[in-house]
Amino acid sequence: MRTGQEPVGVIGVGYVGLVTSACLADLGQQVVCCDVDAAKIARLRNGEVPIHEPGIDELIRRNRDRLTFVTDLRDVFVEASIAFICVDTPPLVSGDADLSRVNAVIDAMPSSADGALLVMKSTVPVGTGASVRARLDRLGRGGVGYASNPEFLREGSAVSDFMAPDRVVIGSDDAANADRVARLYAGLDTEIVRTDVASAEMTKLAANAFLATKISFINEIANICENVGADVSEVARGIGLDRRIGSSFLRAGIGWGGSCFPKDVRALKQLAGNSGYHFQLLNAVIEVNEMQKRRVIGRLLTRLETLRDRRIALLGIAFKPNTDDTREATSIVLAARLVAEGASVVAYDPVASGVQLEALGATVAGSAAEAIAGADAAIVVTEWNEFRALIDPTLRATMRRPLLLDGRNLLDPIKARAAGYEYESIGRRSG
Ligand SMILES: NC(=O)c1ccc[n+]([C@@H]2O[C@H](COP(=O)([O-])OP(=O)(O)OC[C@H]3O[C@@H](n4cnc5c(N)ncnc54)[C@H](O)[C@@H]3O)[C@@H](O)[C@H]2O)c1
Repeated sequence: MRTGQEPVGVIGVGYVGLVTSACLADLGQQVVCCDVDAAKIARLRNGEVPIHEPGIDELIRRNRDRLTFVTDLRDVFVEASIAFICVDTPPLVSGDADLSRVNAVIDAMPSSADGALLVMKSTVPVGTGASVRARLDRLGRGGVGYASNPEFLREGSAVSDFMAPDRVVIGSDDAANADRVARLYAGLDTEIVRTDVASAEMTKLAANAFLATKISFINEIANICENVGADVSEVARGIGLDRRIGSSFLRAGIGWGGSCFPKDVRALKQLAGNSGYHFQLLNAVIEVNEMQKRRVIGRLLTRLETLRDRRIALLGIAFKPNTDDTREATSIVLAARLVAEGASVVAYDPVASGVQLEALGATVAGSAAEAIAGADAAIVVTEWNEFRALIDPTLRATMRRPLLLDGRNLLDPIKARAAGYEYESIGRRSG
């Protein structure tokens, strides 16, 4: 369905901004995309797509005539009267969200933006809407409206998540502004949750904290399963069918990472602390996750006795499959720990860059086969589908020791053993 509403601006054209731009264009909008990264804008103008995200290339190609790429914020408001802020909000050393990029956008708002509506899609602490409002007023931009519209898409399935969201949350203290945002989503079959700005901001942080809690919970269940002879995949199936619990985010593994969970969970913990509340549960969720990554090292030591001069293959660098994003990926923690233990680390990922791992002393292989050849152990760090091909006696035979630690419970334990691997996974009886 084509909505054909007022032209839209998107400020910050990363994973969220580019997906938002392409999807809104596909819904019939004219979209002006703005980024301070001139090289990225030049690539986009040339038809290159700077991120790996299923479906995005085709969407951009199909809607080229509706997408304009600019580096100057003033060019956004020549056309657009509503603009999404999608800049990054990375963690500060303290764990608080760094809002300097958001503030840079606010400070650069041109006078031509008066009457326009700014819509915050970046994940921000509760209270940001109020401080942005005060900042706009202080800068003489009282005519610029503000609404919150947190984004829930997941990298790897971002296009379908945007086009078929479970809900769209709109926080606004002005019903007319909320209507303007809601109209942009008119082409989607979804529930619109209208609320105030602070509650919209909290909804995003609470959602990510809850999902991270679910994963840390099932990881602890997996660890206990290993001690008592139960199987976490059976347990997850059994509890997941209970509609009060639900089956998603109950997959045990070696810990969550990525550009959102770690920073958003820490940001909520800090936010709680700043407000005078000690968020005890969230502290445990974070600690369990850190321990889960480090348990891998203990498992390897049990099997290999030492890691000094052992060659360890890391299969997967991205924080999850179908993305090239490596921010706070588990591979980085593992590579750092393994190098510190004296191991030689060889990593491979189908799309993600290994630059961060190389900086830690790891080497990067051109294929999974090359990574595991001569290795004393291989760890499945990211559940890329292509790693299913590891179940092959010929590949296994190239390893110095066929120890395969499946950190994502990707492979069938029986088949992996039949291929000759010493196979271990997370919390599974047969694994
Ligand atoms: N990546 C996700 O899966 C996801 C999902 C939901 C929400 N979010 C949130 O969305 C926000 C963006 O995340 P992302 O992963 O797309 O980040 P990103 O780092 O991929 O993209 C941010 C973009 O903003 C640009 N930018 C920075 N300052 C700017 C400025 N002053 N003007 C214009 N552009 C500027 C950067 O150059 C970059 O291209 C974050 O707050 C994140 O927490 C991310």
